[in-house]
Amino acid sequence: MNSEKAFTIGGAHGEAIPQLGKMSNRHGMIAGATGTGKTVTLQVLAEGFSQLGVPVFAADIKGDLSGIAETGKPHPKIDERLAQIPLPHYSRQGFPVSFWDIYGETGLPVRTTISEMGPLLLANLLELNDTQEGVLYAAFRIADDQGMLMLDLKDLRAMLQWMGENAKSLSLDYGNISSQSIGAIQRRLLVMEEQGGDRFFGEPALELQDLMQVDFSGKGVINLLDATRLYAESPRLYSAFLLWILSELFEQLPEQGDAETPKLVFFFDEAHLLFENASKPLLEKLEQVVRLIRSKGVGVYFISQSPMDIPDDVLGQLGLKIQHALRAFTPKDRKAIKSVAENFRANPDLDTASVLTELGIGEALVSRLDAKGTPTVVERVLIAPPQSRIGPLTESERESRVERSPLKAKYAQAIDRHSAYEALKQKAEQIAAEEAKAAEVKPAATRSRSASSRGASSGGMDIVDSLAKSAARAMGSQLGRQIVRGLLGSLFGGRKR
Ligand SMILES: Nc1ncnc2c1ncn2[C@@H]1O[C@H](COP(=O)(O)OP(=O)(O)OP(=O)(O)O)[C@@H](O)[C@H]1O
Ligand SMILES: [Mg+2]
Repeated sequence: MNSEKAFTIGGAHGEAIPQLGKMSNRHGMIAGATGTGKTVTLQVLAEGFSQLGVPVFAADIKGDLSGIAETGKPHPKIDERLAQIPLPHYSRQGFPVSFWDIYGETGLPVRTTISEMGPLLLANLLELNDTQEGVLYAAFRIADDQGMLMLDLKDLRAMLQWMGENAKSLSLDYGNISSQSIGAIQRRLLVMEEQGGDRFFGEPALELQDLMQVDFSGKGVINLLDATRLYAESPRLYSAFLLWILSELFEQLPEQGDAETPKLVFFFDEAHLLFENASKPLLEKLEQVVRLIRSKGVGVYFISQSPMDIPDDVLGQLGLKIQHALRAFTPKDRKAIKSVAENFRANPDLDTASVLTELGIGEALVSRLDAKGTPTVVERVLIAPPQSRIGPLTESERESRVERSPLKAKYAQAIDRHSAYEALKQKAEQIAAEEAKAAEVKPAATRSRSASSRGASSGGMDIVDSLAKSAARAMGSQLGRQIVRGLLGSLFGGRKR
């Protein structure tokens, strides 16, 4: 091989099958029935990227990817594989890993703020209908207009409650705000809170640069999100989270021309979730992001049991396709096999459809891009063995790594800053205090009460105004900008009402 940056995926008829660094932002897919080798293939790719100095992000749904941090154990089956694949640089080793966990139990906690997640993703996450979604958009716009910070769930809840109390005056500017819709959103928020969503929303929010590290030896750091519990308890939050990272990357990274390697490679396990749960506008945005993020140097790799789970629009963009064995039990299976086979560039030496059902574990049909960006004909490839351990770390191995992480000081502790909730609470207390005082000074209590209730309905915006000012003062201008920026607000929130 020449000096081009590349790593070996596996071997076919005694030759190494390379994945080129410069083609790695052209996205990819790993598919196959259960137990056919998808996770180990992911592991081999992640190792390869890391060795090229490319940081990786991957969700670890079964917890069996964490072994990538440890040196692999010798095994006769691995030697057997090694004998068939030219791998001159194979060397058993562990890779640098940052462990993340939304619940903060098995990794550093990952958080984002409500404003950064934005209304479109949040509406999808909460499964809101159109009317409710309209109210949620209004909440974001009001917060935006008033410079109120929505960081965590209690900010959003306080905002919604306040909107309910001032629905009449707000409706003039922001459209109908019905109490039923507000009630429905509040109930959804409660459910999400019970699933642990309250821990996900807040600060310190994850900074992308912390996912894009290279260690002292030049290896890209592999970021593993422990998604075991998240995936089991809240698959929607899981997909919303990954979509959020993707769109953050899209928004924040500058365009880059053709590069030797991507800036980051992103593995999307259980990708079917992403597509089957997404609303239509979200799906459209997702397809658009996948199309455009390539030029920012990000490669996205989908892992799924069947390529049929991936929309055609996305499927058509994939440069690397690694297809493990498929089962042919039902007529539906057989139909899928036929269509999968037809999607590969035919190889005259291979009967793609029949090979698809014959492939052994850790063996796959592979199509990739050559140095000119042309899809290769499909090849039957024995996937390389990983250099790191197959299977999970022990609890203590993992713990000690989380403990030693240089990012621990930054993320381990949650902070609760003065934001919408605190601001609204403060204001409510202030009003109550003023009312009590007024009642003391003027015994004509009826008059005072009617004045204040009038204030609440017609003077609603004054209250928000003064809140905004005090909030802005308390937080400094930098944060004011953050909410306006509302990353997903601009990317995924373009829908104006
Ligand atoms: N490239 C490989 N080299 C060596 N062993 C492999 C390779 N691929 C798969 N194996 C073996 O096959 C087992 C199953 O593979 P893997 O866990 O990757 O399957 P999977 O498709 O991810 O399964 P599931 O759908 O259940 O998640 C591994 O534990 C490993 O022992
Ligand atoms: Mg797996």
